[in-house]
Amino acid sequence: MASSCFAFQVNGSVNRQSISQTFDHFKTSLSSSVKPFLKELQRNPMRIDVSKTMKQTTGRVLDAFVDSLFHFVDQPWLPSQIFQSNFAPVEEIGEAVQITTIEGKIPADFPEGIYIRNGSNPLFGDLKSTISMFGRSSHIWVEGEGMLHALYFTKDTHGNWTVSYKNKYVESETFKLEKQRNRPSFLPTVEGDSPAILAAYILNVLRFGTVTKHISNTNIFEHSGKVYTIAENYLPQEIDIFTLETYNDWDINGSWDRPFSSHPKRAPGTGELVIMGVDAKKPFCVLGIISADGKKLSHKVDLKFNKSILCHEVGVTQKYNVIMDYPLTVDISRVAKGGQLIKYDKEGHARIGVMPRYGDADSIRWFEVEPHCTFHLFNCFEDGDEMEGISEELIKVENHNFKENHFCSGAVFVSKDGGYEEDDGYIVSFVHDEDTNVSQVHIIDTKKFGSEPVAKITLPQRVPYGFHGTYIAIPTKKINKV
Ligand SMILES: [Fe+2]
Repeated sequence: MASSCFAFQVNGSVNRQSISQTFDHFKTSLSSSVKPFLKELQRNPMRIDVSKTMKQTTGRVLDAFVDSLFHFVDQPWLPSQIFQSNFAPVEEIGEAVQITTIEGKIPADFPEGIYIRNGSNPLFGDLKSTISMFGRSSHIWVEGEGMLHALYFTKDTHGNWTVSYKNKYVESETFKLEKQRNRPSFLPTVEGDSPAILAAYILNVLRFGTVTKHISNTNIFEHSGKVYTIAENYLPQEIDIFTLETYNDWDINGSWDRPFSSHPKRAPGTGELVIMGVDAKKPFCVLGIISADGKKLSHKVDLKFNKSILCHEVGVTQKYNVIMDYPLTVDISRVAKGGQLIKYDKEGHARIGVMPRYGDADSIRWFEVEPHCTFHLFNCFEDGDEMEGISEELIKVENHNFKENHFCSGAVFVSKDGGYEEDDGYIVSFVHDEDTNVSQVHIIDTKKFGSEPVAKITLPQRVPYGFHGTYIAIPTKKINKV
């Protein structure tokens, strides 16, 4: 399976008249549910901490309201999932486990370090839907809580390798909230009947202060010696790369208060981090530049988009930022009209923008291109005074074929120790055998990419399909902290 990211599909399916009727009912139900709360306040007007009491009581009333109207159910498996059972979540393994089954040999010039991948791992087993008077709404697979899977590669002075494995949930604040409640609590907001989606929006905000969970399941990246997980509906979560514990949100000392792109890019030369943040409300798309030491937001500019798009990746060259604009839009007002939250407009236009690193909206030079919905960029580079962007001339294409019913995720390139050519290294990837239900990590020599992997590392438990990974090369003495 190719590693891919957010591919939301939303199908509003209720006509406008029924929405109106349903929301009238919604308002009536809310009113009757709030009345007992008001009576309680009248009976007990003298409270020492009125604010706290109101918050707690309102929370209880809203919980009771949701519990009485919304019923969580497991989603049935799709036919394709029956043959791809590895989408199902797994439990945390606990302490790191040393791996004993390695077929082949880990190369001597493979760098010591940590191969780590993020992915969706729903906290309460199967994906959930809710059924209510407003209709049905469902979580989709990409909304599962982030789970990290890490392999620690260490080598002793005799060249003998030790590999250990550990997995752990990313514990964002919303993760901790649901875990503490020990039941699904956030109502699904992406797929389903329009009234159900709207009701979920409102009730999630009222109960938890946010529309959706902070899943942090899409990517993992390093900047200025710290490691972060990310999904682009919220801020990055800093983690301990050895224990996989989650620390805090990373808001760059309070200067970034909006979503954060899943694929931030390191600027060549300066080491700055170029980020984007797309939102469903204005400003729809903001570009930021974080200093190399990670302490300062050096640049923040509204790109003045006239719509919200699902822009997943930004490109960088020595001097420029590359931005993609395409007709995949997010608009909650469409749901209120019985339409789709996220829509791909086949008649829409697409463009690629090039702007100086510290430019603004007016400095972007836009190039009209065929309509597309490109989530990822291969590469961007400058050639003299020219800059090549999306369609670079392909220099070399090679394939590595897996055996039948084997699927991979989270593949990354790892430069070998002392390597200097562009493909001087290894592709490392999680690989799952659907027939035996065994998961492995394969190491493939990129100089012989069509050949068998040089090493196949069998993992102590199944690793579900997931999203993006990275390899962090660090010395043995640090890894031995695991
Ligand atoms: Fe991605």
